[in-house]
Amino acid sequence: MAVREIRPGVSWVGVIDWDRRLFDELIPLPEGTSYNSYLVKGSEKTALIDTADPSKEKEYIENLKNSGINRIDFVISNHAEQDHSGAIPAVLKAYPEAKVVTNPKCRDMLKDLLLIPDEKFITVNDAETLSLGNKTLEFITAAWVHWPETMFTYLREDKILFSCDFLGSHLASSGLFSTDEPHVYRSAKRYYAEIMMPFRANIKKHLEKIGSLQADVIAPSHGTVHKNPKFILDAYRDWVSDEVKNEVVLPYVSMHGTTLAMVSHFTDRLLEKGIAVKPFNLTKTDIGELAMALVDAATVVIGCPTVLAGPHPAAVYAAYLANALRPKTKFASVIGSFSWGGRMLETITGMLSNLKVELIEPVIIKGFPRDEDYKALDRLVDTIAEKHKELAILK
Ligand code: FEO
Repeated sequence: MAVREIRPGVSWVGVIDWDRRLFDELIPLPEGTSYNSYLVKGSEKTALIDTADPSKEKEYIENLKNSGINRIDFVISNHAEQDHSGAIPAVLKAYPEAKVVTNPKCRDMLKDLLLIPDEKFITVNDAETLSLGNKTLEFITAAWVHWPETMFTYLREDKILFSCDFLGSHLASSGLFSTDEPHVYRSAKRYYAEIMMPFRANIKKHLEKIGSLQADVIAPSHGTVHKNPKFILDAYRDWVSDEVKNEVVLPYVSMHGTTLAMVSHFTDRLLEKGIAVKPFNLTKTDIGELAMALVDAATVVIGCPTVLAGPHPAAVYAAYLANALRPKTKFASVIGSFSWGGRMLETITGMLSNLKVELIEPVIIKGFPRDEDYKALDRLVDTIAEKHKELAILK
């Protein structure tokens, strides 16, 4: 793949991974991804910003060589995770004069993860700069987007922010730039939900800092490059805000149709009350879709049968995921059933300790729902409606 110019002297030199369908053996990638690497050529020195996943190392190095890149003075490592750092050893082999420029925390991680020797590093701290001659790189520490060592690199003269994982998307695209904003928005929201949402408080601070830079271009390390930074910054400001939507996310699993009967009744009543609902059958759902729904829903209700005296493992997975992703959800509840007993409810609610939610009275029934059970579900819907009205998200 050829280099693709962003500005004179600044080019994309990454790899598009069209076929990848799973990241971290966890996150579905319905549209593949890219490992964006950028070459910045100054009048005196040349810097490479981030590299590529080791699975694409051969292709990446061939691309660099075929593109006529004869010398690299600095490899800037914004983040130690291997999808960006994994090809650094290969770059150092192909370009032995290059030094790795990063912050001390990232250096230590690269030494551990990739066994890069100490003498190959130049360390920099927050707000330090590196001159390439007529171009200046400024380093901005940005903990927790995505790991504690993460930093951004800002190219002052061209006003380009290289934001690594932050503001990116898992999107393999033949276009370099975010021209189809509705498409990129959806992909970026999924990415935010799966990767960034647990760090909402940190992100708020980083957004303020980035806002003050007034960058013309934001170039993340996955997905398309934003020539209209306002588009992605406004989307993030919305996602990290405390505002929630009049919506119930309903991950559920049903073994013999009992929990499904409850879910169907509950869903119909929510809709009658004017509350949006997103049911996710956990035996079929793409967890990225579930994560995305959690970004701004006011309420989560988990639908779960009892198996082996506890919750169904699929519901355990959903509860664990919701707890780990720490969405800004305000209310939670559980609906479900048992045949003879068990501790399903206690186990599920005990798994939601990270969520700052008010637990609404669950509806747990014995056997198939009877009239009084449907009435209990109606009362749960009424309570959710009242809570949403208190937030002024339901009229
Ligand atoms: Fe794309 Fe945290 O690595």
